[in-house]
Amino acid sequence: DSFLQTMSSSTDEQFPINFKALEEKASTLLSKGAFGYIQSGAGGEETLQKNTSSFSKLSIVPRFLNDVSTVDTSITLFGRTYPQPFLLAPVGMLKLAHEDAEIAAAKAAAEYGIPYIQSTVSSYSIEQIAAETGTSPKWFQLYWSNNKEISYNMVRRAEKAGYEAIVLTVDTVMLGWREEDLRNQFSPLKLGLGKANYETDDVFLAGLPNKEEETIIQGIVDNIHHPTLNWADVAELKKRTSLPILLKGILHPDDALLAIQNGIDGIIVSNHGGRQLDGVVSSIDALPAIVNAVNKQIPVLLDSGIRRGADIIKAIALGADAVCIGRPYVYGLAAGGQLGVEKVIDGFIQETSISMALTGVAKAQDLRNVTIVNS
Ligand code: FNR
Repeated sequence: DSFLQTMSSSTDEQFPINFKALEEKASTLLSKGAFGYIQSGAGGEETLQKNTSSFSKLSIVPRFLNDVSTVDTSITLFGRTYPQPFLLAPVGMLKLAHEDAEIAAAKAAAEYGIPYIQSTVSSYSIEQIAAETGTSPKWFQLYWSNNKEISYNMVRRAEKAGYEAIVLTVDTVMLGWREEDLRNQFSPLKLGLGKANYETDDVFLAGLPNKEEETIIQGIVDNIHHPTLNWADVAELKKRTSLPILLKGILHPDDALLAIQNGIDGIIVSNHGGRQLDGVVSSIDALPAIVNAVNKQIPVLLDSGIRRGADIIKAIALGADAVCIGRPYVYGLAAGGQLGVEKVIDGFIQETSISMALTGVAKAQDLRNVTIVNS
């Protein structure tokens, strides 16, 4: 008996080490609707599956007999050096996963000096996150608004609050066909979980008629779908901020080139974690052609399907400057708030460092030379 108790209490306390176990744990802690919203992909989830299976089809060919006693995982983006080659991707409405939501995630990132990318549709505002995290690196993800003044307002506020880059998401001009949410009749936006950034006086001046909760939510729903977004808007946005702008969701090399032509400072190769158009290419498969076209003119980041350290090695070897992590930290948040996110970050840090050493690479900048084969 006592043996069994010890066993079960030690399993209770153990934080899941890998993604699958963490996902399972989150599924037991969250409502069906909330878990489904986070976990699922669009359509038949072909792309969601490809995001991870594409990584599995790539293999690292290591080199040995290099001194890897000290591994330097740091990278440089826009002139600032960060200790790890990964960032936390923008994930909206994190109150779905935990009451402390984006504050917990941003504080966890701050503990490790990792940039936190805050979503437009956050449960806490730009100013609230800034107040909780001081000067730790933060970027702001912008969902373009039908009412451009709302977009400009949020960018100005992010700039004022000390955010260091704007990430304009281009793959979400409307919501993808998400069957799990349709089955569960689940829309966190309509529950008001993503309204914090729309609740300031400035935004009301910019567009929304009044501060009634229902009006705010309807205002967000009306504004957040923005199928008119085009290169002229991007060029105009560029004129209105001194911060670097990254476009998130680029999958075609020609769009990467247009981004450069329009003065954009970086891109994130992403399919939104398989949540937008089902059937699109996995980011890791899209990466090499984009890296080739960009030819080192601007940083190229990647997300969608990063689940462990070796995935980070593969992405950087294929030309990414850094990667972003989505669902893994959201499940960490669900399982343990800020501490849970820290455990996930810590796991990635350790596994990345071990993977680099076992690949035979002592410096992240040398990962570019690692041989990757299809097998
Ligand atoms: C997202 N993602 C996202 N992207 C964005 O630009 N703004 C947002 O508000 C959100 N919200 C969001 C919610 C949830 C629940 C998920 C899972 C994802 C996409 C996110 O930034 C990133 O592209 C993917 O999560 C990366 O894929 P992985 O790591 O989840 O496979």
